[in-house]
Amino acid sequence: AKPLRVALLGAGNVGSQVARILLDDAAALGSRAGAPLELVGIAVRSLDTDRGTALPQELFTTDAESLVENADIVIELMGGIEPARSLILRAIEHGATVVSGNKALFAQDGPALYEKADAAGVQLSYEAAVAGAIPILRPIRDSLSGDRITRVLGIVNGTTNYILDQMDATGAQFADALRAAQELGYAEADPTADVEGHDAAAKAAILASLSFHTRFALENVYCEGITQVTADDIAAARADGYVIKLLAIAELLSDEAGDPGVSVRVHPTLLPRDHPLAAVHGAFNAVFVEAENAGELMFYGQGAGGTPTASAVLGDVVSAARRMMLGGPGRTETTTGHVPARSIDTVSTSYCIGLDVA
Ligand code: HSE
Repeated sequence: AKPLRVALLGAGNVGSQVARILLDDAAALGSRAGAPLELVGIAVRSLDTDRGTALPQELFTTDAESLVENADIVIELMGGIEPARSLILRAIEHGATVVSGNKALFAQDGPALYEKADAAGVQLSYEAAVAGAIPILRPIRDSLSGDRITRVLGIVNGTTNYILDQMDATGAQFADALRAAQELGYAEADPTADVEGHDAAAKAAILASLSFHTRFALENVYCEGITQVTADDIAAARADGYVIKLLAIAELLSDEAGDPGVSVRVHPTLLPRDHPLAAVHGAFNAVFVEAENAGELMFYGQGAGGTPTASAVLGDVVSAARRMMLGGPGRTETTTGHVPARSIDTVSTSYCIGLDVA
């Protein structure tokens, strides 16, 4: 088959690993995709940055627009809202399949982007935006589409899980644990996004939207980070048989009139030490899903890092390519469903999972 032209936008931690794997593993990826995947260019902000010699220099370009206009598949790994958003829209207009790992953009503009992609008949996927390597968006969107999800509990930020886990295991203070997490390279460039819960909130908005077939944006998510959690809080929780985890929570609830709604929130939560999520240590992520018919499911793995996140990106690329080779773009997720997109405020009574708090 004719090669599919792949354009990569961004050559950071994840982008450079995606490029490396596309080149090193070209034969296997091409045979699974049904056509060779040809990396035609990597758009970067400046050609002056020293990127070593791991990737062929001639692939780098600062002309992202032309790259996008001449691609069959566009992989957006620049992060941030602009210019990522405009480039994705341009790719959609040109009929290219889009794969992205951009949690901030999809938390803010996901529904508008899905609509544009659907109208243009192109595929848009972003598995890497939530929980790195863990396949979680496709299981929620596809595998569980015949069921009714009632609650999603996620440890979706590795930095804060690492910090709380260190504090729990060694009695470390917050500041020392944060420094160690930054040295491991999991933290965002500005770790405020991690410790204040904003990174987890973006992921919560995406999880809630897909789980409840509705539309949640970042502003619908109640968000409280871990900066106020002390070593004493952790010791007190431990003495009572609990562990403190920063959870992204999306759950189907009824308000006082019995009308359904969804509570979407991120905050430090007391978890019984025998809950499966309590066993998630270090910078690992996990998402615990409760569904009416399936019951309880848990997805566990590496939520950050170049190579693990590249695995999720390439999974999207190969499956999108496969659908293209089968002759149709297929529809992306639409978010029209049965639950109104309104938040039910339960925060004051729901800081504990598995414990009734009056
Ligand atoms: N800073 C994020 C984390 C990276 O710590 O999980 C992955 O989104």
